[in-house]
Amino acid sequence: MKQTIKTLILEFVAGNGSSHIQEIHLQVAEIHPGVPQHTVRARLSEMSGNENLEEKLQALGEGFYGLYSENKDLNSVVSYPDRGPWGESRYRGNCSGYLVKDLILRFKCQSVFDPAQGGGTVKDVVSGINKFRRNNIHYEGRDLKEGWDIITGLMPEKQFDMVWFHPPYWDIIRYSDNPYDLSNCMTLDEFELKLNRSAEKLSDVLRPGGILAVLLGDKRKNGNYYPLMRTLLTNPNIGRLKAIIIKVQHNCMSDRKFYSSNNPFLIPIKHEY
Ligand SMILES: C[S@@+](CC[C@H](N)C(=O)[O-])C[C@H]1O[C@@H](n2cnc3c(N)ncnc32)[C@H](O)[C@@H]1O
Repeated sequence: MKQTIKTLILEFVAGNGSSHIQEIHLQVAEIHPGVPQHTVRARLSEMSGNENLEEKLQALGEGFYGLYSENKDLNSVVSYPDRGPWGESRYRGNCSGYLVKDLILRFKCQSVFDPAQGGGTVKDVVSGINKFRRNNIHYEGRDLKEGWDIITGLMPEKQFDMVWFHPPYWDIIRYSDNPYDLSNCMTLDEFELKLNRSAEKLSDVLRPGGILAVLLGDKRKNGNYYPLMRTLLTNPNIGRLKAIIIKVQHNCMSDRKFYSSNNPFLIPIKHEY
C-alpha cells in the first residue's frame, strides 16, 4: 500500500486558559474498508486528568517526534516506568532505551558500540534517532549469544564516541550454559575479574574523550549483599569516573519475591547504577 501521512492538529488548553497547538504526524499503516477515513484511534489516555499535565505535554515535544527529544533535565536519579518502544521487551534483563537516548543526544554521539546487545534496545534507539532526527549515528552490536565473547573476541577496529555496556548482574539471570557467559561465573572474584577485563577492553575502543556507560545493579544471595559496581569504581585502567546515575528499577522479577519480615535487612533493591 502507498504510505499515507496524516497530520493531526491539537489545541491544548491549560487550566489558566492559555493554549498551544501541537501537530502530530500519523503514518497510516493500514486502511480498513468501511472505516471512515477521518476516524483516528489515538492513545490520548495519558493526557486525561490534570495531574502532571504540563510535564506530559512537554514529554510529547513536537508530537510523535517528542520520543526522540533530549531530556535537558537529566540528573543523577532517573526513573522510566515504561521502557519505551525499543528492543525486545521479553528479553530477560533488557533495559529501557530512554537513558541510552538521553546520553547519546547529550554527548552528541556519532558512533555507539553495544558489546552485550541482548534484545537490541540500543540498536533500536540509534535507528530511531537516525530516522526521526535525521542523524547518521553508526552502531555496532555484539553478544555471546551471537558467538562473540567480550573477553576473548576481537574488538571492533573503529573507535567509538560511546560504549553502552549492560552486562549480566553476575548470576541473577543465567543467559546461557556457555562457560564464557558472564552470568556463569562461579564466584564473585571470577565475575569481578571478568567485569574489569571487559571494561578495560571496551575503554580501548573509545575515541579519546569517549564515554563508557555501564549499567549494573546490585545483588543479594544467601543473606549477603553484593554491590557489583564497586570493583569498577576503583579500576584505574578505565578512565576517570564522570558521573553516577541512580536508575529506579521497575518490573523486575524480584518484585514478585516474598521478603520475610523476620529479617529487617532484606530491604528490596529498587535501583541500579
Ligand atoms: C543484561 S543483558 C543485556 C540486555 C540488553 N541491554 C537489552 O536491553 O536487551 C546481558 C547480555 O550479556 C550477554 N553476555 C553474557 N556474557 C557475555 C560475554 N562473555 N560476551 C558478550 N556478551 C555476553 C548475554 O547474552 C546478555 O544478552
